[in-house]
Amino acid sequence: MSPFSHHIYNGKKMALFTKIPEKSFKNFKNTYSLYFFTIIFGVLRYNLVMSKFLYENYKDYFRVGAAISGIILMNDAEKDELFQNMKKRMEEFKKNFKPQPGMPVFKFPEPQPFPKGDMPDKKLAAEQFNLVVAENECKMGSIYHGPDQFDFSGADRLLAFAKQNNQAMRWHTLVWHNQSPRWIFEDGNGGKASKELLEERLKKYIFTVGERYKDDICSVDVVNECISDKNFVLRDGADRSQWFDILGPDYVDKAFFWAKEAFPNSSLVINDYNLEMIEGKRQGMYKLVKGMKERGVPVDTVGLQMHINIQNPPVSEIEQTIELYGSLGLNVIVTEMEVSAYVDKDFEHPDPRREYDKAFLDEQAERYAQIFECFRKEARAGILKDVVLWGITDRMSWKNNFPAPGRGDCPLLFDGDGNPKPAFDRLTK
Ligand code: G3I
Repeated sequence: MSPFSHHIYNGKKMALFTKIPEKSFKNFKNTYSLYFFTIIFGVLRYNLVMSKFLYENYKDYFRVGAAISGIILMNDAEKDELFQNMKKRMEEFKKNFKPQPGMPVFKFPEPQPFPKGDMPDKKLAAEQFNLVVAENECKMGSIYHGPDQFDFSGADRLLAFAKQNNQAMRWHTLVWHNQSPRWIFEDGNGGKASKELLEERLKKYIFTVGERYKDDICSVDVVNECISDKNFVLRDGADRSQWFDILGPDYVDKAFFWAKEAFPNSSLVINDYNLEMIEGKRQGMYKLVKGMKERGVPVDTVGLQMHINIQNPPVSEIEQTIELYGSLGLNVIVTEMEVSAYVDKDFEHPDPRREYDKAFLDEQAERYAQIFECFRKEARAGILKDVVLWGITDRMSWKNNFPAPGRGDCPLLFDGDGNPKPAFDRLTK
């Protein structure tokens, strides 16, 4: 058998050419001519398969990115330590979990050890995308461990990966009410940090991160998820924002002014979820960014997270949302997209587990295809710049267990083993 006869691609074994039966050898006077033809055929077929690169298909319109879980860049010992932690956490979670009355009860999936060696996500991340963002490693809670303690190991690791693969990198995120370290809001004597102290800490953080990464980061989520789901104005202390609680409403403007100094060449993004899904929230963000522009605040891009599902929202609403922010002269990027199999109208009573059969996978493929067509249109109009998916394989998606513990989801372009799903095939057609 020729050494070129198989190529492992996307975790799938794809024959580069069909095995030729032994007896047909006799028809060739010279075995070398067989090798010559098979190599040519192999190279042609190889090129055909390998031209299925997602980012290449859209390179004239927008970059295609993926959120990278730090796990896929870990070595085996690190993965094992994480697995042990997860087992401990799962035990605690199960002990404390109280289902809502009427909520379907799913079987809790026991954490499984991570595969040894490279996971398929790593190869796919390198091959299929020209933009990366850390799923967790660039959040304040991962980095800022004390007034003078910074841990950049996760961020550095991803940046090295991006450079090695000629990819751009985004920063997610500077200011967020979640995954912020607890100490930052405390005064060290059991009380709240003062406004002056918290401002000083935030400023120091933004400038320290900028100093290290300003030349390597194409866009920065400066403020994340600051619009309240209750009244569509700035999330306040009662709605879990200690930033608002201590610094007051102008913390958003200030963060952008500092980010502009710290990252003078990056685009500065205000990022939120459900903007394409909920009209009130879309308008709330519109009012906020309009006001910011009028005040001369250096925001230049709105980030639509786009954690959407198989039904909602309709493509027309996605289009309207992009155009609404575009009408203010802002750019738009899609920052965290996936298409869940579940509509989950009411998070307290999520949909029962469904089959991920051919009909579903084709429907999902069609939905991805229609939305990416809309993205193309909005890129042509000069508004949409980047599209980032929140993960690579279904196995690693944050949607597994959210909002229904024990219910796996199926929202991305590659299945758990890294095989391309129909949605990937549609987007690379
Ligand atoms: O790092 C710990 C590890 O030490 C521990 O052993 C392990 C046990 O499960 O947990 C690890 O932390 C988890 C972390 O992900 C890294 O895997 C946290 O428990 C878990 O809460 C955290 O979830 C992340 C979530 O943000 C936190 O809010 C998800 O991976 C991440 O996908 C998600 O991303 C957010 C965006 O930042 C903002 N928009 C919404 C999006 C989805 O929630």
